[in-house]
Order: sequence, then C-alpha cells, then structure tokens
Amino acid sequence: MIRSLLHVGMTVPDLEVGRAFYELFGLESRPSGTHLVFRCPGRDQDQLRLMPGSKKRLAYTSLGTNQEGMDVLLKKLEQASVPLQKAPFDVPLDGIWFQDPHGDWLNVQVAEPIPPATDKLPPEINAHGRYRRVGRACDPSSMHKKARPIRLGHLIKFSPDVLRSVDFYTNVLGMKISDQSFDILAFLRGSGGGDHHMVAFAKSSHTGLHHVSFEVADLDEIEIGAQTLLRAGYKDGFGLGRHIGGSNYFHYIRDPWGSLVEYFWDIDVIGEDDSDWVPLNCPPEEVTAVWAATPPPHDFVLNFEEPD
Ligand SMILES: [Fe+2]
Repeated sequence: MIRSLLHVGMTVPDLEVGRAFYELFGLESRPSGTHLVFRCPGRDQDQLRLMPGSKKRLAYTSLGTNQEGMDVLLKKLEQASVPLQKAPFDVPLDGIWFQDPHGDWLNVQVAEPIPPATDKLPPEINAHGRYRRVGRACDPSSMHKKARPIRLGHLIKFSPDVLRSVDFYTNVLGMKISDQSFDILAFLRGSGGGDHHMVAFAKSSHTGLHHVSFEVADLDEIEIGAQTLLRAGYKDGFGLGRHIGGSNYFHYIRDPWGSLVEYFWDIDVIGEDDSDWVPLNCPPEEVTAVWAATPPPHDFVLNFEEPD
C-alpha cells in the first residue's frame, strides 16, 4: 500500500540551529506557525518539518499511498488492532495517524509520489563503451556548483526489534524487503517498487533517527555539499563511498544533534515486477560499502537520540 515517502517531522531544541544547518545542506526554509518547513530548491513538496521541543527526536514520518491502497490499509490496521488516532502534533496534514509497534508516529495520506525533476538533467557520463557526451565539456560552471537536493529519498530508523518492525511495515503497510542483515538491519521499498529503500531499520536499544537521505544530481554535488558543511564546522559522518545495499554513492554529515543526513546519487531502482531481484541476507559489513574513503567510524551505528 505505501507507495512514497512524503516528509519527516522532527522536534529540535533550537529551530535556528536547525535552519542554519539544513539551509547550508541545500534546502530552503519557510515558517509554518511555530515550525520551520524545508523544501528542495524549486520544488513544491514539504520534505522536512522542524518543531520546537525539549530534545531532538524523530517526531513522525509521513507516507503516501493511493485511494485503493488507503482502503486496504484501513482494513489491515483494523485486523492488526492498530487504532487510528488524532494528529499528535499541530501540523496541517491530511490523512490518518497511527503508531507503529514501537510507538513511532506515522501519517499516511492519499498522495501522488513526487514527480522526477526534469527541468535540469545532470550531464551525460562518458563511461567506457557508452560515450554519451561528445563534443562538449562536462559543465563549464563546475567551480560554482552547489548541492541542490532534488528530493527526500529515504530514512533509516532505529528499532529495538528490527524483525517486528519489518513484520509491521511489510504485512500491515505493504512494503517489501529489498535487502537485510538478519535482525540487525533491513531495507524496505514501497509496494509499487521504486528506490531500493524508502525506509530501513537498524537495531538499537530504542527508536530514533539514524539518517534522512536526499538525492542530488551527480557525484560532484555529493562532495560539494559535504565539503561545504565540513568547512562550516559540522562533523563528518561517513563517506565518500558507495553502498552495497542500494548501490548508491553516499556521504553522511552529522546534524547539530548527532543524527546523520546523507547526500545520495545513483541508487538501485526495483520495478513493481521484482521477479529478477534477489534480496541479500548477510552480515551488515557485507551491505555497507563497496568502497569508502575511510572505514565507517565506530559511532556510525550509534543512536544519538535520547529515549523518551
Ligand atoms: Fe541512506
């Protein structure tokens, strides 16, 4: 039933600290009541909402489906004895609200997936045997490029019971497993296919946000964005590298409260007909990185959110 990731809400102890970080990351902000809402430049969809709170916490995840999917979802929630609830935050969102097995809030709306941004396509790549950019330079303005995130692609949540989370998000919400590391890590995609993962779960003692991830136009923008944040004094997370689970190039930077944000490019896409896809189920180090500039730091897998 779940076909798209719409946006993520967080509470943070200082909205202006959040604004400074996410604007330098490449998002555009506007006030919404007492909250700050962020969008990718030139796009119409809210992707991140920061709300004032005593501590940084992932507050809710907003997901999209179609009307048929909503009808099935409502039946599945009833069968699983999951009650619909009033909106737990003062946010102008349609749709339904409920909690997953570990108490994380979910909002599901009837909403179309974000269409691809086609106004400015990245330059063609000259790969051996497929030379597609002939007679022109890559991008004469490269020195002036900035990271311009195109869309929120996925988030990884911490879970005290990854298999229980997977059971709920697949059997009740209709998502599908793309790859997995036993009961330690699981990557889930939407019911209609699409990116290798829309939501993933990583084992921890309690819930929390591991990272949110935004697609950028090319490899240049991953590093231009990461280096911009590092020069401003934000802490490196992990990268540059290329994942095995999802195959995407990545660089993670720590937000001001210890969660990670990721720039990604070139993620695996799985069709609605997934008969050719063979999910992995292997140790975490076998899905982490084909290569990376450094090994993952010890704190890459730590949950920096305080339990409630
Ligand atoms: Fe990611």
